[in-house]
Amino acid sequence: MKTIISFFIQKSKILKSLKFRIFVLVVLVGFFSISIVSESILANYHSRALSTQTTNALNQSRVLANHLVKTNYLEKDSDSALDIKEELNVFSSFFNGRIMVIDSNFVVVADSYNMSVGKYMVSKEIIGCAKNNSTVQQYDSKNHYIETAVPITDDDSKAVMGVVFLSTSTENIIDNVDVLRRKVGILRVALVFLIILLAAFVSWLLVEPFVKITKAINSVDNGFGVPEEKIPDYIETVDIMDAFSKLLTRMKTVDDSREEFVSNVSHELKTPLASMKVLSDSIRSSDNVPIETYKEFMDDIADEVDRENTIINDLLSLVKMDKTAGKPNIASVDVNLMSEQIIKRLRPIADKNNVELMFEADKPIIAEIDETKMTLAISNLVENAIKYNKPGGWVKLELEADHQFFSVKVADSGIGIPKESLDHIYERFYRVDKSHSREIGGTGLGLAITRNAILLHRGAIKATSIEGEGTTFVVRIPIKYVYD
Ligand SMILES: Nc1ncnc2c1ncn2[C@@H]1O[C@H](COP(=O)(O)OP(=O)(O)O)[C@@H](O)[C@H]1O
Ligand SMILES: [Mg+2]
Repeated sequence: MKTIISFFIQKSKILKSLKFRIFVLVVLVGFFSISIVSESILANYHSRALSTQTTNALNQSRVLANHLVKTNYLEKDSDSALDIKEELNVFSSFFNGRIMVIDSNFVVVADSYNMSVGKYMVSKEIIGCAKNNSTVQQYDSKNHYIETAVPITDDDSKAVMGVVFLSTSTENIIDNVDVLRRKVGILRVALVFLIILLAAFVSWLLVEPFVKITKAINSVDNGFGVPEEKIPDYIETVDIMDAFSKLLTRMKTVDDSREEFVSNVSHELKTPLASMKVLSDSIRSSDNVPIETYKEFMDDIADEVDRENTIINDLLSLVKMDKTAGKPNIASVDVNLMSEQIIKRLRPIADKNNVELMFEADKPIIAEIDETKMTLAISNLVENAIKYNKPGGWVKLELEADHQFFSVKVADSGIGIPKESLDHIYERFYRVDKSHSREIGGTGLGLAITRNAILLHRGAIKATSIEGEGTTFVVRIPIKYVYD
């Protein structure tokens, strides 16, 4: 039972293979073309042989009719009667048929079979021939004979004096066609064998490049190495290989950046732990540590725990913001209200940094967004604007909208971002000044989170900055969420 099932599974697999289908197609096409060609050759031979025989019969009949006129055969009591009789016999044995001479009253005056002399002969062909003074020819395909009727016309008066009626057998043609058919049949069998071989070769030739591609792809190990083997057979397979190589390269880039990310994450997470280890070790190794020192060190350790916590939270936000991580929670949100709440929450930090925080919006904006994610994105921008500012500086959050997009502009009078860093600020863990950023509690993940949140909303972010003068971030988001 099992073997039967596996046989059918294997069979259906064969039926679905390109190689098998090409093979069958070539065999069918070859077989049909051979059949059509051989049949048309036979048919052509048949019709040509018929027309040759008809033409011959007509020509000979005409010659005979002329002769009859010249010898006045149809005039009664002609003494050429005997000669003509001889001629008719030669004629009829040459054509393997029967020849009759019929006068204008449709009475048979001569018959090579000697059966109908003196009788009336009124067939459609004979009457037609006599009436229209024209030759008539007819092929009886069922009984295999050709009938021709040629008028005997008086040279001077052009009057029809009688008809030469010839009926010849076409058996010889049929025999020839049969012989030819047998020969063609043998040739056909040989050709079919040849076509099967050809089909096997063609199907192998056409499919081989794909087999090679599969081999090449299978040979790629986990290291994303681009396959060495070139597959130049078809433009299409070369394209497939190119696309595959590109995909590999892209995967390699993704893999590299993933590795880099993991090593960055480990490094960032290990730094607070290392500090805590140093702090605790130094307390443990010394005796009689004053209580104030204990307190001071414990405060430092608590700070490091906070930092560790911040990094982990940022990492979690980043992962959640990843495009592949689930669907955003889209709802109609009052963007003005949302922005005011952000300002309200960040005002204490601004005050602490002696930075003036301003908000400006010219009209109410309702948009389809994920409020939590968008709040985080804008908060990060405003927070950066406050943190990378100067005492006495300002930060301005501005809202604008048209019928398609709303934009959030966060401008500051801070330290600015160097031109060469502008392209990198969205990278994970990228910080222009590592020590300064760390000092003020930065993880280098804020803008990465912001950018991911904006991309999730099919929006765009752009930054312009002048070092020492300030930075402006502009975010543009569709008012209606674009579902996939
Ligand atoms: N408004 C700004 N003014 C100056 N520099 C900025 C501003 N926003 C971001 N940066 C620079 O970009 C870097 C990346 O920002 P971000 O991803 O938020 O990380 P961080 O946690 O360091 O704030 C920051 O370290 C800072 O150097
Ligand atoms: Mg930040």
